Amino acid sequence: MEVQTSVSRATEADVQALAVAVFKDEKADGDFLSQLNEVTGGIIRSLIEAEEFKGKEGETAYVHLPEANGSTKAKRLLLIGAGEKKDFKFGQIAQLAGVAMRTLRGKNIKTIGLVLRGGEGEAASVERVAAAAVEGAFISLFEPDKYRTVDKEERQVERLIVIAEENDEAAMRRGAERGRIVGESVNFTRDLANEPGANMTPTILAERAQMVAEEFNLEFDVLDHARMEQEGMGSLLSVARGSEEPAKLIVMKYTPQSAGGSKENGLLAFVGKGVTFDTGGISLKPGEGMEQMKYDMTGGATVVGMMRAIAQLKPAIPVLGVVPATENMPSGKATKPGDVVRAMNGKTIEVINTDAEGRLILADAITYAKKLGATRIIDMATLTGAVSIALGDVNVAILGTDQELINEVIEAGKEVGEKFWQLPLDAEYTKQIKSDIADIKNIGGRKAGTITAAAFIKEFADGVAWAHLDIAGTAWSDEAKPYRAKGPTGIAFRTLLNLVDRAASSTRKESSQDNGAARAKDK
Ligand code: BES
Ligand code: ZN
Ligand code: ZN
Repeated sequence: MEVQTSVSRATEADVQALAVAVFKDEKADGDFLSQLNEVTGGIIRSLIEAEEFKGKEGETAYVHLPEANGSTKAKRLLLIGAGEKKDFKFGQIAQLAGVAMRTLRGKNIKTIGLVLRGGEGEAASVERVAAAAVEGAFISLFEPDKYRTVDKEERQVERLIVIAEENDEAAMRRGAERGRIVGESVNFTRDLANEPGANMTPTILAERAQMVAEEFNLEFDVLDHARMEQEGMGSLLSVARGSEEPAKLIVMKYTPQSAGGSKENGLLAFVGKGVTFDTGGISLKPGEGMEQMKYDMTGGATVVGMMRAIAQLKPAIPVLGVVPATENMPSGKATKPGDVVRAMNGKTIEVINTDAEGRLILADAITYAKKLGATRIIDMATLTGAVSIALGDVNVAILGTDQELINEVIEAGKEVGEKFWQLPLDAEYTKQIKSDIADIKNIGGRKAGTITAAAFIKEFADGVAWAHLDIAGTAWSDEAKPYRAKGPTGIAFRTLLNLVDRAASSTRKESSQDNGAARAKDK
């Protein structure tokens, strides 16, 4: 899909359909809406007055504009409800754009003008609004049907024009470009998550990551079995033992060309669980629903996709991405319940349940990220079924040792419309993972499963600021939404990218303040 921007009148846009957001109980008497109402022969006011369209969030009205109408080039109009104006949040923009795109694609529309209206919610810059709208547009058009030969979604939107009348076009263009990069990268992640296990082995995931690194100039490294053994990664390797597919530890690094200021800002790292298929191992999962475990590498796919976006967006701070990738299979060689393994940080682990493998691979990946200099680590993982019981598919669970980092994630999420809910991680929970014969064991009993999983990872995250995201309940959607297909959701991607942006711009501010202070001293 080609993306363009325009600051001219929406009515002049050379597209088949225009999409416009309308607030609840908005009368078509405001600036833009009344103009559009007039040139469309009063159709908007008539829809509103007849109460056919009320502007409720997610509501849509699709109308043909009379052929004789010479005042708009577009011959179709889609109104999208945006809900109460006073409650409107920046985070809704991507979804509204998504509703518009999916709805219009469903009508076989090929060229769309998406009208950005002023005064929506908090005073966001047109650059950010354009970025959010284009992100939402790309995300909405992704379909997980690549292996279908019949009933495939063949309709394609060819051109999107983002329109903000009388605005700063350069800013819009920057925003739209950012939106394209982010939207395409989120879909890249979703595509990886959607792949069947046979087509997304650790080797293939590492190859895809390497292609990204080569295309966008990231530092890249991949540790094979021998190197992981040298590093003493007995915990990660214990999960890979049962598989014919060799495990890989993928490392990607972005370094800004001009480091922001002379001050040491530390290194932010993302670590993502990359279990390319989780059978449970010897603690085998039941057959029913096991096919879902192809997406047990979504955390890892999110890290690779984020690095793909970061490499192009070039924030002012360095970012490290680490993905431990392995299958979890039963076999004659597989780790058995009761086996004791030794992690890279020297701790010994009694493996009680081989299905609690995510924490075992994250343990060594986090230790390795620390070895590479990470000072702030955010890991994300489809880690526990228990998180779905606690939070359903609405909130991502967030836990960790650094409240500031946790708050930053939650805040960054609010801005993009993704929800995180913090669960406690008191020291008492660690008692549940004490082992009789080793330092710790890999499960903590029936109680508080999501928390004891985090308590386990915490044992490897000392000395750094650490936050953990359990995305097992939110990474996959069983139902299609008006703004998104069913399947991989790309959850947390845009939040963490926003977090990187916020960290990078505060670094810029700090360093320019530092420079200012230095200059003041020179005088
Ligand atoms: N990959 C699963 C968690 C999962 C469940 C992800 C559902 C996505 C959807 C994880 O490795 C696992 O099996 N966890 C066990 C832990 C238990 C053995 C302590 C679980 O949640 O049942
Ligand atoms: Zn498992
Ligand atoms: Zn798993």
